Order: sequence, then structure tokens, then C-alpha cells
Amino acid sequence: MNKKIKKIIIKKNKSKIVCLTAYSKSVAKILDKFCDIILVGDSMANVLYGHKNTHKLSLDNMIQHTFSVRLGVKKSLLVVDMPKGTYNNPKLAKKNAKLIINKTKCDAVKLENNKNNHKIIKVLIKEGIPVMGHIGYTPQYKKKFRIEGATQKEAESLLKEAKLIEKSGAFSIVLECLSPQAAKMISDKIKIPTIGIGSSSHCDGQILVTDDMLGLSGFYPKFVKKYANINRIIEKAVKKYTREVKLKKFPSKTNNLNG
Ligand code: KIV
Repeated sequence: MNKKIKKIIIKKNKSKIVCLTAYSKSVAKILDKFCDIILVGDSMANVLYGHKNTHKLSLDNMIQHTFSVRLGVKKSLLVVDMPKGTYNNPKLAKKNAKLIINKTKCDAVKLENNKNNHKIIKVLIKEGIPVMGHIGYTPQYKKKFRIEGATQKEAESLLKEAKLIEKSGAFSIVLECLSPQAAKMISDKIKIPTIGIGSSSHCDGQILVTDDMLGLSGFYPKFVKKYANINRIIEKAVKKYTREVKLKKFPSKTNNLNG
């Protein structure tokens, strides 16, 4: 097993796993100092490309951004989302997961769950491709956002899903927007680490979309804590630049290349 993945797994019940998303080298380089896992998430469809959902993101988009992220990542585990439609059957999943791994040298792929995707995960694991699962609110398959696992029956059905994914050989599972009770039950009952987003502190680790927590994306649901207001900082800098260009203060002599 990949050493980095082993390190993630043994953190369960010992120390929390820190994860964030990145779509470029410059951001990845900063995250790499602090994160255990960096995910090239298909959230880039909304955040970066302005799509309404994640459904039309291409494999090429994913590979190109991962290529950039890879250049900034040295120590963290690099996980890549497989875009919708790229893992519909075992043959397609194998072909595309291998393409992602071979072209980007990432460490693992992530698949959103949709009834039988644990079977696809099993096939990829057999090929030696490490996989992270994803249950709860899975934007590739669910149109409407809602908290999942609020009733005992629903929580148990999510636990069943998580257990199937664990049994298939995944090394970890993202729990997106689960009730705290469901997140706790699943995190307690499976042996692989759970990574929560909007799913309470009961998970073994946490992930957020970096652009959201930095205040860059403008998307701030209740589960996102804004750790910075980067929009404000960029606005201030661009305003100053604009003023200096108009007043001919920039470029000054110090910016001249030949003296
Ligand atoms: O696409 C993404 O960024 C994700 C995280 C929100 C878990 O899947």
C-alpha cells in the first residue's frame, strides 16, 4: 500500500485529518505545508468555470488542473475526482482512472457513490488504483441539496452504503452534508477514516472547498467557515493599481528594467 495512504488510515481515532481542495500549483504549494490530503475536486466546475453544476466537467479539464496541482504538492496525498460520466461501467472506469493516474501521477481517485459504485471501486482496487468514496450529498447524482441521515432509517441506509464502500477496498470516505448522528454512527462503525464536509466534528477529518473558506467563491452555506476575505484583499490591491496607473505612479523608475 502507498505509504502516504497508510499514514492517512492510521490517523483514525488518533488525530484529525486535514483536507482542502486545490485547482492550481500556486494554491497547492501553500496547502501542502499543512494538509494531509489535497483534493482536485470537480467543484472546480462551479467555482472556476462558472458551471451550474459539476456534470459537464471533462476528463481533460481534470487532468490539466491536476497536472498543475501536482507541481505544488510534495508531501500531501493527492486525490482527484473522477468527473461524472467517466466511470459509468468497470471498463470505462478502469481506462479513465488509469489515464488520470498515469498522466498526473496523483495518488488516488475519488468516486461519488450511486447505488452500485462500490462494484466499480472494487474493480479499480483490483487494478491497484487507490480509491476514496463519497456518500451523502453527491452533486454528480443528486439535484436537490438536503441534509441526509436525519432519520434512523436513513442513517442506517447510509451506514450500509459506507460499509459496502469499505468492503470494496476504499481507503477513506467523504461524508457530505450528513446529520451529526449519521456521521457519528458511520465514523464509529467503519474502520477507514471518514472525511466530513457539512457533517459535524464526529468525522475523522474535514474538507472544505478552499475558495469558499478563503472568501473567494462567494458561496457560503452554514457549514463553510470563512477564514479570510480574499475578495476584499484583491479588490483593494486592484483599486490601488488602477489609481497608480491613472496617476502615472506605476510603473515608477524602480520598475524600469534598465535602470
Ligand atoms: O468536488 C469537491 O470539491 C468535493 C469536496 C467538496 C468533497 O468533492
